[in-house]
Amino acid sequence: MSSWSAALSPAAERYLDLLTGCLTRELFLDEEVRNINLADWPGTNDERDGIRATLRRNKWRVVQSGGDAEVRGVGHDWPPTAETMVGRARLDNARTLATRAVLDGVPGDFIETGVWRGGVTILFRAILEAYDASDRKVWVADSFEGLPAPNAEQYPADEGVDLSGVDALKIGVDAVKANFARYGLLDDQVEFLVGWFSDTLPSAPIEQLAVLRLDGDLYESTMDAISALEPKVSSGGYVIVDDYGAFDPCKKAVDDYRAANGITDALTTVDWTGVWWQKS
Ligand SMILES: C[S@@+](CC[C@H](N)C(=O)[O-])C[C@H]1O[C@@H](n2cnc3c(N)ncnc32)[C@H](O)[C@@H]1O
Repeated sequence: MSSWSAALSPAAERYLDLLTGCLTRELFLDEEVRNINLADWPGTNDERDGIRATLRRNKWRVVQSGGDAEVRGVGHDWPPTAETMVGRARLDNARTLATRAVLDGVPGDFIETGVWRGGVTILFRAILEAYDASDRKVWVADSFEGLPAPNAEQYPADEGVDLSGVDALKIGVDAVKANFARYGLLDDQVEFLVGWFSDTLPSAPIEQLAVLRLDGDLYESTMDAISALEPKVSSGGYVIVDDYGAFDPCKKAVDDYRAANGITDALTTVDWTGVWWQKS
């Protein structure tokens, strides 16, 4: 961790380290199991059908055991049980910037727009706990039913990007609350904004933000979130974009917003996809 974290006791520092390893499941990769898609199974269709029948009859499934540390480190997979898919590098970046905001006294709350199982926001809440920062909130914004279908007429950059049917991205709000509760971090410093960003964010009762983390993938989702919330980011606060390097619709939304609003603050790269800037 950076020198900004020097204010924490070693025990609090180790708490955040431990939590990070839990949220990514890096600490338990040897215990991880992942379902195998039998379509990838070697052999003929008849053989696969035979295996499927045997599995069904016995209520068995075929799994691969053990996760890949390198892959998880850079957030290149959708983990089977971890509370976040962003991987270690982007989770550490969120921790570093949220910590800086607290220690530098940047006013405002923390928010992530697009939380999936909630891992980044759980870490945000833990950072407030570690620093005894009871005057800030963590906002958890998501449809909690996955991505919207692309609206290519209004947002041409999203044409052909349809993730609306992907069940793995549909994590209900009760499941996310249960994830906060699993770590003892579900309390009145955590606020849930349930619904499409276009409906929830413009009227959300958020006064000021110290950290805005965007992770909604699409042009529409990124533009809805950044338009509603970037004006609330304090001077000296941080805007983090998860999908900038890897996903053109997201990059275009961020570039369009920055150009339209004359934002020239330098972008810093986190890894193969994440970037951030500090608001001047
Ligand atoms: C890639 S996942 C976020 C990953 C998460 N940050 C993590 O730590 O693993 C994208 C999330 O954005 C949400 N989302 C995307 N577009 C949205 C929109 N327009 N309104 C509300 N939620 C949206 C999806 O439901 C999904 O949970």
